[in-house]
Amino acid sequence: MGTYCLSPEISDRLAETAQALVAPGKGILAADESNLTIKKRFDTIDVASTEENRRAYRELLFTAPEIQDYISGVIMFEETLGQSSSDGRPFTDLLKERGIIPGIKVDTGLTLIPGTREEKATQGLDGLGERLEGFEKQGAGFAKWRAVINIGGHLPTRLAVEINAHALSRYAALCQAAGLVPIVEPEILMTGSHDADACERVSEWVLRTVFSELSAHRVFLEGMILKPSMVTAGDTCPEQTDVDTVARATLRVFRRVVPAAVPGIAFLSGGQSSELATAHLNAMNKMGPNPWELSFSYGRALQEQPLKTWQGKTENLAAAQSALLKRSRCNGAARYGKYSSGME
Ligand code: 13P
Repeated sequence: MGTYCLSPEISDRLAETAQALVAPGKGILAADESNLTIKKRFDTIDVASTEENRRAYRELLFTAPEIQDYISGVIMFEETLGQSSSDGRPFTDLLKERGIIPGIKVDTGLTLIPGTREEKATQGLDGLGERLEGFEKQGAGFAKWRAVINIGGHLPTRLAVEINAHALSRYAALCQAAGLVPIVEPEILMTGSHDADACERVSEWVLRTVFSELSAHRVFLEGMILKPSMVTAGDTCPEQTDVDTVARATLRVFRRVVPAAVPGIAFLSGGQSSELATAHLNAMNKMGPNPWELSFSYGRALQEQPLKTWQGKTENLAAAQSALLKRSRCNGAARYGKYSSGME
């Protein structure tokens, strides 16, 4: 049935999980910061990045009351997948009991592409098949792999676009063979002085290349989620575009390139403020109907406010959880185009 080498049981399960991840009104909490990245986040609130502090912070997020109404899945770093709550429940069990699907970041970070000055390839393909089988046994239902593309001067090069599309597709095919839904994340960085037109051209090129490779690698489109960046001007571009212009340009690109068989597009926030990330998602959903669910898979845009509120102090825990609930609720409303700044 066009699912290539996947058994009907696996393809049905993949499609079901992918649809659950982009269920109406819900999106994904990206809490998969590597130890290096979470240290940078903890530095901003003067908290030491010890294993226990990382565990306590993730427990705060995963046990926040009511978030299951707006959060369908959580992406974790490998260390977190094996951790438990303070009352001894493995995070994977705790999340599943709340109806939240546990996910795992499986790439192992970026490395310079030889022959280019500053472009990066994502690592982690060696031994990935066995690692994925282990993660599936540990309770993960989906996985994530992030590729990074820079705009600026002569960038991106064709080499960088092709290497990254190839690795994303190899990863996606391996995930599906192991029964995990791949989140395919080609992030076009907002860093730089390029304008929104440049971002639109590069986004279309990158996504076309990614979908061509996904097809060559026989990836089952109904059993994957795309996690892209939005079409915006670079962060130091003097001409910033308004919310509706971002939404229109982003939809223009995706309608041209993303097959309707893909159940959902779950955006990353990429350094946008929490409120702006919500407003952009809201505007795109207002401009529907669209062939796919338009959802969120935000890291910073969901966690910035809870992290700032927490400050590493137990007495701030409930307030930090309320901050996460508030952002989740705002983004849940944006899934229907029903968010308003009054909700802030
Ligand atoms: P941001 O939303 O902070 O960009 O993070 C999403 C993510 O998972 C990046 O890989």
